Amino acid sequence: MSPSLSSPRIAIIGAGIIGLSCAWELANRGAQVTLFDSNFHPGRGASWAAAGMLAPAYEAAAEEGAHPRLFDLCLEGGDLWTGFAREIAEATGRDVLHIGGPSLAVALTTQDLAAMQGLATALNAQGIPFDVLSPDETLAHEHQVSPGNRGALLLHTDGQVDNRLLVDTLIRALEKHPNAVFVNGEAPLVCSGNALTVAGFDEVIIAAGWQTPSVTAGDTPLGDIVPTLKTLQPVGGHMLALLRQPESPEMTLRCGSLYIVPKAGRVVVGATVEPGVTGHEIDWDTIHGLEVAAHELCPVLKEAPIIEAWRGIRPGTPDHAPMIGALGETGAFVAAGHYRNGILLAPVTAQIMADLILDRKTSELAAAFSPARFAAATA
Ligand code: FAD
Ligand code: GLY
Repeated sequence: MSPSLSSPRIAIIGAGIIGLSCAWELANRGAQVTLFDSNFHPGRGASWAAAGMLAPAYEAAAEEGAHPRLFDLCLEGGDLWTGFAREIAEATGRDVLHIGGPSLAVALTTQDLAAMQGLATALNAQGIPFDVLSPDETLAHEHQVSPGNRGALLLHTDGQVDNRLLVDTLIRALEKHPNAVFVNGEAPLVCSGNALTVAGFDEVIIAAGWQTPSVTAGDTPLGDIVPTLKTLQPVGGHMLALLRQPESPEMTLRCGSLYIVPKAGRVVVGATVEPGVTGHEIDWDTIHGLEVAAHELCPVLKEAPIIEAWRGIRPGTPDHAPMIGALGETGAFVAAGHYRNGILLAPVTAQIMADLILDRKTSELAAAFSPARFAAATA
């Protein structure tokens, strides 16, 4: 892009929360964005399937095998959320139901207690405040938690948003935005020599979630052009929603791999972690397993019928952290691989991409998430 071009034309491939947030930030900063999505209903991938938790502490502080700066990126993402939600509300008149926190990480077993201790140690090492609650104090915060609970951590950093409302609101806002256009279908991406381009555009961002390596340039999948992208792997996840009732829990609850996230009219329960799984078909035994686990954590939920069940696909990477930045020597950019934290990381990803593309600026933290970190492993 010529530095004098003040209003670059940017093609964004994929209109999940990552493509949408990048489009929103870039369009608001004066770029002309076109969003291409091959699904007739954009935004119905992982971003629709998610629970909408904004959980730097629980998801990243003590995550084994994670990128050493993932927690920092997640904290930065969390810090941007209040402003992001406010900006969307001001522009659209719609509240995306952002709740800043806190959430409760509850222990029911000895194993949960050990995990809680590990999380507390990691948070202390980072200087992140939290409260250790006795079983009675846990019940005082959320009286629907099992009376047999063994205590909890009150995580002030961990909140939530209605991710479906968020996706719908951003789509509506971008449809009306003078600097944005939606195209239903694949982008005419071309690979010539090393360069990836879309005719008529100055810049290209690939943001197609777990399908990023299979986006094609001509007939060739991007994973064959840039092998680094082959490190992106699908990770399935079963979820269900229960009808929300007056006595349903009100706080977001975590316990081991289980979570319970109250939303307007429903209570979302998740989730399994199924590496390599790309199917959307539902295994009802798995759903009932999650339901039983939710009943153990919150016995009152036995009264709540299942109103929806689904299976989403997370975009995983070897270090559980996203790839954000220049895509090798292609001249294109990528924003994908947000694994369990794509909703949390949407505003910070958008800011990193806009700084990079419009101002050619990369912070030290953003540089740590360049896809180049996987180049050696795939050379
Ligand atoms: P997606 O939302 O999958 O969007 C990709 C888009 O690209 C889709 O619309 C697709 O149609 C489009 N596309 C694909 N191929 C092409 C092509 N060739 N051309 C054009 N378009 C294409 N994150 C959190 O922060 N908090 C949570 O609580 C949370 N819970 C989760 C629970 C589950 C069960 C799952 C599955 C995920 C969860 N996540 C959560 C993770 C989060 O959902 C993802 O990290 C995030 O949604 C990824 O967004 P994305 O835009 O990259 O991908
Ligand atoms: N962040 C919750 C999940 O990915 O299941």
